[in-house]
Amino acid sequence: MSDFIYKDGQLFAEDVSLLEIAEQYNTPCYVYSNNTIQSRYLEFDSAFASRQHLLCYAVKANSNISILNTLARLGSGFDIVSIGELLRVLEAGGDPMKVVFSGVGKREDEMKFALEQNIKCFNVESESELLKLNRVAENMGMAAPVSLRVNPDVDAKTHPYIATGLKENKFGIAFESAKVIYEQAANMSNISLTGIGCHIGSQISSLTPFQDALHRLLDLIDELKQLGIEFQHVDIGGGLGITYQNEIPPTPTEYVNAVTSIIQKRDLEVIIEPGRSIVGNAGILLTKVEYLNITPFRNFAVIDAAMNDLIRPSLYNSWHEIKCVKQNSNIKESIYDVVGPICETGDFIGKNRSLSLSEGDLLAIFSAGAYGFSMSSNYNSRPRAAEILVDGVKVHEARKREKLEDLFGGELLP
Ligand code: LLP
Repeated sequence: MSDFIYKDGQLFAEDVSLLEIAEQYNTPCYVYSNNTIQSRYLEFDSAFASRQHLLCYAVKANSNISILNTLARLGSGFDIVSIGELLRVLEAGGDPMKVVFSGVGKREDEMKFALEQNIKCFNVESESELLKLNRVAENMGMAAPVSLRVNPDVDAKTHPYIATGLKENKFGIAFESAKVIYEQAANMSNISLTGIGCHIGSQISSLTPFQDALHRLLDLIDELKQLGIEFQHVDIGGGLGITYQNEIPPTPTEYVNAVTSIIQKRDLEVIIEPGRSIVGNAGILLTKVEYLNITPFRNFAVIDAAMNDLIRPSLYNSWHEIKCVKQNSNIKESIYDVVGPICETGDFIGKNRSLSLSEGDLLAIFSAGAYGFSMSSNYNSRPRAAEILVDGVKVHEARKREKLEDLFGGELLP
C-alpha cells in the first residue's frame, strides 16, 4: 500500500497533509516517506531469511543523508561511485566495512581514501583500473579487496540509456576476458580477490535477465574454482524496476527468491545493490501550478518545478503519475501538458494529462524518490528544491531549499 494517499479529498504523505508541507516549506519540494523506505528495505532483507547476504543500497538513486541514515540504522550497506558518496555514507553513520565501490573511472585519490576507510570491496571494471588499484594499495602497504564487475552480455530490455550489461556498453570486464584478468589479479601482491559481480541495467521489469546473468556468473565461478580462484561473495547489482505507470515488476521477495533458488547451497554471500526499488516510490515532487496557458492548439499547466528538478521525463521520456493534492471535483477535467518554466521545449514533466486544475493548485509528481533530486541541477539559475522526510506525523527538513545567494556563492569576479 502506498504511503501517499487521499484522506478527505487531500493528499497525505503518511500522516501529514501535503498542503501543510507546501505552506511551511514552499514549493517545489521533494517529500519522502520514511515508512516506504524502511518497508522496502525490510522486504528485501527478510526475503533472504537466514542466507548470508548484504544489501548495498545504491547511493546515487537518492543520496540525502537522512535517507542514508534511515538505511544505515536498518543495517544496510552501500554501493558508492565516488568519494563524495562515500563521505555522505560516513556522515550518515553508515559502516564503511559494508561499502562496495563501483564505477568505471575511480581516481587514485578516491581509491586511497576508500582504502583508508577499509571498505568491503572495489568493484573493478577494467584491467587498467586493477593495475592502478594494485599500485595505490602497494604504496599504502595494503591489500585492496577486489570483486571484478563482469559484463555478462544479457539484454535487460530497458531504456537504452540505462542498459549496462550488453557487451557494447562501457561497463564491466568482457565476459570472455574475465578469466584471464582474474588469473592476473590472483598474482598481484596487493590485490585480494573477494568476489565477482555484475550490474545489467536499471528499471528491469522481468526476472529473466537477472537469472541469465546470474547463471553466467556461476559458470564463471565454477571455471575459476578449477584454477584455484575462489570467492566469498557474488554481487548481482541493482536494477529491479518499480511501477511508474502500469509496469508490473517482480516484488523484492520474488526477486530474492529467484536469486536464492539459483544460488542454492553454494557457500557464497549474496550482495545486491538496489536503488530505485527502495526509494523510487518513496518520494513525490510537490509543485504549484503558476499558470494555465490555454492556446488554440494545446493547454499548458506551467508549474514551479522543472527539468532541473526532475530530469527523467526530458532525458528518458519517462512517465510520472501527476495528481492534484486537493481533489477538485467541481472543476471540469481538461487535457494539459504539464511543463516547467525553463527555456527548453524538452522541459516537460508530463504530456496529455487529464487534470482538474486552477492556477495556484498543488500537484504531486509521483515516483520521484529515485534519480529525482540526485540528478537535479541549477540550470536557468534555479535554486535546488528542499527535501522533506515524513515519518508518521513527524516532518523533518532533510535538506533546506538552496538560497539565491548560494547560486553564485562560489564564483569569483575577475
Ligand atoms: N549498481 C550499479 C553499479 C549501478 O550503476 C546502479 C545504477 C545501481 C546499482 C542501482 O540501480 P537501480 O537499482 O537503481 O536500478 N538515472 C537513471 C537510472 C541510472 C542507473 C544507474 N546505475 C534513471 O533515472 O532511470
